[in-house]
Amino acid sequence: MDVITTVREMKAYVRAIHQRGETICLVPTMGYLHQGHLDLMRMGRNLADHLIISIFVNPTQFGTGEDLSVYPRDFQRDRRLSGDVGVECIFFPDVEEMYPPAYATYVNVEGMTESLCGRSRPTHFRGVTTVVAKLFNICDPDVSVFGQKDYQQLAVIRRMVEDLNMNVRVVAHPTVRETDGLAMSSRNKYLSGEQRQEALVLSRALNMARELVSSGEKAAERVRQAAIDMIASTPETVIDYVEIVHPDTLHCIDVIDDRAVMALAVKIGSTRLIDNIELRL
Ligand code: PAF
Repeated sequence: MDVITTVREMKAYVRAIHQRGETICLVPTMGYLHQGHLDLMRMGRNLADHLIISIFVNPTQFGTGEDLSVYPRDFQRDRRLSGDVGVECIFFPDVEEMYPPAYATYVNVEGMTESLCGRSRPTHFRGVTTVVAKLFNICDPDVSVFGQKDYQQLAVIRRMVEDLNMNVRVVAHPTVRETDGLAMSSRNKYLSGEQRQEALVLSRALNMARELVSSGEKAAERVRQAAIDMIASTPETVIDYVEIVHPDTLHCIDVIDDRAVMALAVKIGSTRLIDNIELRL
């Protein structure tokens, strides 16, 4: 397992791979790996000759007052877990390496970053697209895997890749869940035992919405309100948003007559969790 911390070395590493005519899959992460990340890596392993991951807790995607300073980290564990699923190289830069003092350039996808999570986290996606664009330039992957759990992030990255003509194929991995339905997230670690139980209302509300739609309900507002009522009746929950949107544009939908996604963000105590589900007639 190679661990590379500088941009210069990483570029040389991937150049050597491409010169041999071999392909690279990159799985970008912020570390503190869980089963969901490892599934992304298992998928990535089958998509290219070489599997590289990045571990970088990206400060530009955290707003003021968010959990940057306490974001969980455990590099030795991450290294062991990722090695076990076939990762050959970890790009593990520090903040100075990615954002040197003179740093001044940001990538911003307009419009679709302003709704959903963008409303309460107005600078978040600008940080995500900036760091992902940098990681793509540094690691030059042929393919890159992102989890569908961060649905808006996935849609925004796809938009960036298309708009900026980037030479990378973005592949989505379905949300990985605990057996009781909770979507896996590094932030689940913040939940107390009781909150962990309350957090199950997110996936329950999404499943209930899916059932309503598959039994014929087409009015988005009715489906949305049913989910809101279910979540609001659970203690310690504060809804950030519950929306039904078009899967590609993320525009809100009134009538569910084609593909749609229900996305939500809910605070359980001080932990903000997100989840989503595809709704089909
Ligand atoms: O999904 C994440 O973990 C992060 O947003 C990403 C894509 C690694 C960018 O920092």
